[in-house]
Amino acid sequence: MEKRVAVLPGDGIGPEVTEAAVKILEVIARRFNHKFHIEYGAIGGNAIDKHNNPLPDETIALCENSDAVLLGAVGGPKWDNNPSALRPEKGLLAIRKHFDLFANLRPVKAVPSLLHASPLKEEVAMEVDMLIVRELTGGLYFGEPSHRTEKSAVDTLVYTREEIERIVEKAFEVARLRRGKVASVDKANVLETSKLWREVVEEKKKAYPDIEVEHMLVDSTAMKLITNPAAFDVIVTENMFGDILSDEASVITGSLGVLPSASLRSDGFGLYEPVHGSAPEIAGRGLANPAAAILSVAMMLNYSFGMKTEASAIEEAVNTVFEDGFFTADLAASGQRALSTQEWTAKVIDELDVQF
Ligand code: NAI
Ligand code: MG
Repeated sequence: MEKRVAVLPGDGIGPEVTEAAVKILEVIARRFNHKFHIEYGAIGGNAIDKHNNPLPDETIALCENSDAVLLGAVGGPKWDNNPSALRPEKGLLAIRKHFDLFANLRPVKAVPSLLHASPLKEEVAMEVDMLIVRELTGGLYFGEPSHRTEKSAVDTLVYTREEIERIVEKAFEVARLRRGKVASVDKANVLETSKLWREVVEEKKKAYPDIEVEHMLVDSTAMKLITNPAAFDVIVTENMFGDILSDEASVITGSLGVLPSASLRSDGFGLYEPVHGSAPEIAGRGLANPAAAILSVAMMLNYSFGMKTEASAIEEAVNTVFEDGFFTADLAASGQRALSTQEWTAKVIDELDVQF
């Protein structure tokens, strides 16, 4: 297959981890006879410096001409005092909105060799393998009116039936590729938007008789994520609940630095990025863990290009390198020699080479 990939390295450790991820993409191309045309664009702080715009028109055009986008991370102290239009995160919000990336997928899977870093008991975190499907372009973060005066402030929570339908369908579709269980999370005992959400889930599930659906309230979901996280397969929820629950879920396996994410449009186009930020304090020193960026490439192959075998090959290689006891500085035990970003990436490449 031939695919065009836009790479937006961003700021801080973004360039280092995307460089590692691109190397992996090149190995996959060589091994499986694909051709990936890779082109680079600016986003975030570096785009503000160069173009006075966190999401320049050239970058939008580049992404429009691509089949998928790989992003590093944006932000850093250099831009923290900028006015809001010239903040790096604006670039992220703008690209999600421009490309209508309404479905945010965040898998959280326990890696046995990293469980020592989990804040939960190892036996509780051990079997965790869930996927959070968060609605990303609607809800409270985008609702109008939104304003404040001296004495009060207003935010608006709006969902249309159509916005709920497409995210719920996406959750049912991905659940089919997994264990077939969906927990739909809302606050239907209080919120009108949640009552509509439940109604839509009840309607949609008729077309998916193979999927087991459970409605859960967001507060009890927050508890169950800590007491019995292994019970979850797919969680689908609205924007703000998803923001909070996905951050909660991301720490339970002790491997925040290795978690990938996907933000998808309905036609399969998607943006893939690590969950972590730009870690400015370690940037440029070969200390960054590239696993999250590399696993984001695996998600790209899986969700945008339908290359399931290739995606599994990457996941397996990453897991094997961890199992063999090779870690970057963020995960290495004290006294253990940590590998640099480049050395760790080379281990994954070696592993991909021995697989064949
Ligand atoms: P962060 O995720 O960048 O860092 C949190 C902690 O984890 C730091 O100690 C960092 O050194 C470490 N860390 C993160 N990724 C790592 C990796 N791959 N390898 C090794 N260690 C890693 O979050 P923080 O510190 O809150 O934010 C730093 C900057 O990143 C801020 O400007 C923030 O706005 C931005 N940010 C950007 C995001 C994005 O581009 N999607 C997401 C979150 C934060
Ligand atoms: Mg968040």
